Parts: sequence; structure tokens; C-alpha cells
Amino acid sequence: MNTIEAILNRRSIRKYTDKPVNKDVILQLIKAGMYAPTARNSRAWQFVVIQNREILNQLSQLHPYGKMLQEAACGILVCGDRNIDKEEGYLTINCAAATQNIMLAAHELGLGSVWLGVYPRTDRMKDISEFLELSDHLMPVSLISLGFPAEQRPFPERFELEKIIWK
Ligand SMILES: Cc1cc2nc3c(=O)[nH]c(=O)nc-3n(C[C@H](O)[C@H](O)[C@H](O)COP(=O)(O)O)c2cc1C
Repeated sequence: MNTIEAILNRRSIRKYTDKPVNKDVILQLIKAGMYAPTARNSRAWQFVVIQNREILNQLSQLHPYGKMLQEAACGILVCGDRNIDKEEGYLTINCAAATQNIMLAAHELGLGSVWLGVYPRTDRMKDISEFLELSDHLMPVSLISLGFPAEQRPFPERFELEKIIWK
């Protein structure tokens, strides 16, 4: 699969088989995340890997649109690190880039994933931080639900020429 194929064929996957995802694969995904571009090359992030079934189940209750976590083999919470960069705007943009990298790498490796929005919903940020007992300097931005896919999604056309401004 080349990069363009991965980008065009990735869809959010919310149903998973019960096949586990091994640690080497998780590390490969996080490595892909860590190669995302960051403002000033700050790499101001931390990645919380959640494999514990009970914690995933509790998160599925805590996140209003996170029911699929009950089936997920793994969750990755991408957090900005305020100790490294104080600028919230950059922290979130960096984490978004890492999130997309992780999801594309997951797709390439035959995994399905979906991005669960955390930032900028302050209630979700607070609930998840408290539940996972995160240090105050970590700002949760996105929660990625991952597993081997148990659904196939169509690929609707999304190219919209009228959304391009040429100068
Ligand atoms: C910032 C952000 C927040 C999202 N939050 C959720 C969410 O809470 N629950 C969910 O099921 N999907 C969530 N999604 C996934 C979108 O619904 C999905 O990307 C969109 O419908 C397009 O579908 P696709 O990913 O299959 O291309 C989120 C995506 C983004 C980028």
C-alpha cells in the first residue's frame, strides 16, 4: 500500500474482532505518530497506551461517542505536554498530526481505528485526565480506538473541485 492509497482508503472502523494487537505493532504505530511534524520540532507529546479491558470499558462509558472501545484491543490517548510547549494551539495541532499518522500506519498494518475527539471538549478532557490520573501538564487531545476490523466501510467520493481556490 502506498501513502496515497492509505490516505484514500482509510475509513473509521468502529467494530473489531477479538484478536489482540501485539506490543511490537503498538510501538510501530506510536513510532509513526512520533514522526509527525511538530511546530519548532517540539515533539511535545506523550502517548498513553490502554490495553486493560476494564479501563477500556470504563473509557467507553466516559466518552459520549466511545462505545466501540468495549470491543477495541487497544486505545491510544495522544496528549500534548505543556512542560515542553505552553502554546495550546501548537500542542493540539501537533497531536492531531500524530493521530493521523498513527491511524494511517494502523491501516497499512491491517488494523482499523477511529479518532475519538477529546480536545477541545473540556468536560471530556477533565473526565479522562482524572480517570487515567494524568499529570496536570498533560493535555489529552485525541483517543484512538484500535483493533482488527470486523466491518468494511464504503469509500464515497470526497474530492470537491469547488473547494479549491486557485490564485
Ligand atoms: C476531531 C475528530 C473527532 C472525532 N470524534 C469522534 C468520536 O467521538 N466518535 C466517533 O465515532 N468518531 C469520531 N470521529 C471520526 C469521524 O466521525 C470520522 O472521521 C468522519 O465521520 C469521517 O469518516 P472516516 O474517518 O471514515 O473518513 C472524529 C474525527 C475527528 C477528526
